[in-house]
Amino acid sequence: MKRWFKVCRARDLPPGRAQSVSIGGQPFAVFNVNGELRGMEAACGHMKANLAAGRVTGDVVECAMHGWKYCVSSGECLNQSTRPLRTFAAKTEDEHIWIELNWPLIVSDDEDRNADASA
Ligand code: FES
Repeated sequence: MKRWFKVCRARDLPPGRAQSVSIGGQPFAVFNVNGELRGMEAACGHMKANLAAGRVTGDVVECAMHGWKYCVSSGECLNQSTRPLRTFAAKTEDEHIWIELNWPLIVSDDEDRNADASA
């Protein structure tokens, strides 16, 4: 089942910025790409730094720790052959930013990956 979760006030997410939120103990981020919202897992595939702290250029975020880059539209890691991060719908409603996740979240067999349940 899909469910919307509040991330932040809309005015706190201007273009070129990101906000993170912890949901079910997992970090997620919403990026404002020239007014378009993109939701994505926030834990970098390298050493789990929060990508919301990275530099956003267009639809690419560069991890603040060691520079891995991700497309926030597709979740693809642009400079390492690693699994893509999952992406999610995001919206503005009632002056807040929301991200849509499958709920409940579950932890997969792979401790490095956290998957959410399918509806
Ligand atoms: S933790 Fe993101 S590149 Fe190292």
